[in-house]
Amino acid sequence: MSDSFRAKVDIALTVNGEPVEARVPAGRHLIDFLRLDLGLTGAHASCEHGVCGACTVRVDGDAVRGCLTLAAQLDGSEVWTVEGLSDTAEIRVLQDAFVARNALQCGFCTPGMLVAAQELLHRRPIPDRAAIREHLSGNYCRCTGYEAIVDAVEDTLRKCADEDMA
Ligand code: FES
Ligand code: FES
Repeated sequence: MSDSFRAKVDIALTVNGEPVEARVPAGRHLIDFLRLDLGLTGAHASCEHGVCGACTVRVDGDAVRGCLTLAAQLDGSEVWTVEGLSDTAEIRVLQDAFVARNALQCGFCTPGMLVAAQELLHRRPIPDRAAIREHLSGNYCRCTGYEAIVDAVEDTLRKCADEDMA
C-alpha cells in the first residue's frame, strides 16, 4: 500500500441519523469503515469490485457501492445502512413482502437488494417487472431467488401506490 493510501483523513458525517467523527486511512473503503470501524455489518462485502451489489448502502439519497466508495470522500455526507432503514421502519413494507414471498434464502444479498429496491418506492408510474429487474440487475443473488424478489418488490410498489391513493 502506498503512503498516500495510508494517510489519515478526518471526516464528520451522519450514519443512520447519528453524528460520527472519525480519522480514516485515505484508502479505507466505505464498506470496511461501516463494518469494521462502526460495527454495522448489515451491508456485506463480497466481490469488492463493484459487481455484486452486496455492499449497497444509501449515501446522500442514492444507493451506492460501499466497496467502490472511500470513507474519506464522505465528509459531510448522510449515510444510511440497512440497519438504520430497518430501525426507522422505512423499509418495513419491503421486508414484510420479502418474508411473505419467500424472497430470501441465505439472505446474503438481501440488505443490498432492500436498499436498491427502496429507491423504486418513490417512482411514478409504478415500474413494471422489466423495470424492476433492470433496477435490481446490479444486485446478484447467489441463491438465484430472483423471481420471488421481483414478486416482493412488485407487491410493495402496488401496496404503497394503493396507500398513496387511499
Ligand atoms: S462487494 Fe461491492 S459490489 Fe460486490
Ligand atoms: S438469498 Fe442467498 S444470495 Fe440472495
